[in-house]
Amino acid sequence: MTCAACHQGDGGGLEGVAPPLVGVDWVTGPAGLSARILLHGLSGPVEVLGKTYNLEMPAFGFMVDEQIAAVLTYVRRAWGHRADPVSPEFISKLRQEYSSRDRPWSATELLELEK
Ligand code: HEC
Repeated sequence: MTCAACHQGDGGGLEGVAPPLVGVDWVTGPAGLSARILLHGLSGPVEVLGKTYNLEMPAFGFMVDEQIAAVLTYVRRAWGHRADPVSPEFISKLRQEYSSRDRPWSATELLELEK
């Protein structure tokens, strides 16, 4: 899977490359968080499982809505996660809402939006 290049196939992440996805609120919490990260990327400090990472994740907005929805549904259901699936319609709506956005999100911005 595309994400495994950085987050690793077991979702455990890799020091200096990407934080883990397993057991992480960013993955299993409100789908708007991870959906926005995929559409526009994530930049700067982010706390994951009590550890602060200060890296850059590129945007995956080039993937079509169905692909993004499938990837997010996968990571929300893999590794014992039991979060709700994500629909292509949900991605499509967010894509339209932020169509003029041309820079990655910061973790602070995202947490503010999903408060
Ligand atoms: C090129 C490497 C790379 C790829 C490929 C990548 N990511 Fe990331 N991802 C990162 C980095 C680096 C961060 C942390 C960015 C920061 O420090 O602000 C991150 C953060 C995240 C986060 C929030 C923090 C966390 O660990 O939960 C999620 C969710 C996420 N990525 C999901 C994905 C998904 C799903 C894919 C596959 C479509 C993917 N990423 C592909 C590098 C990558």
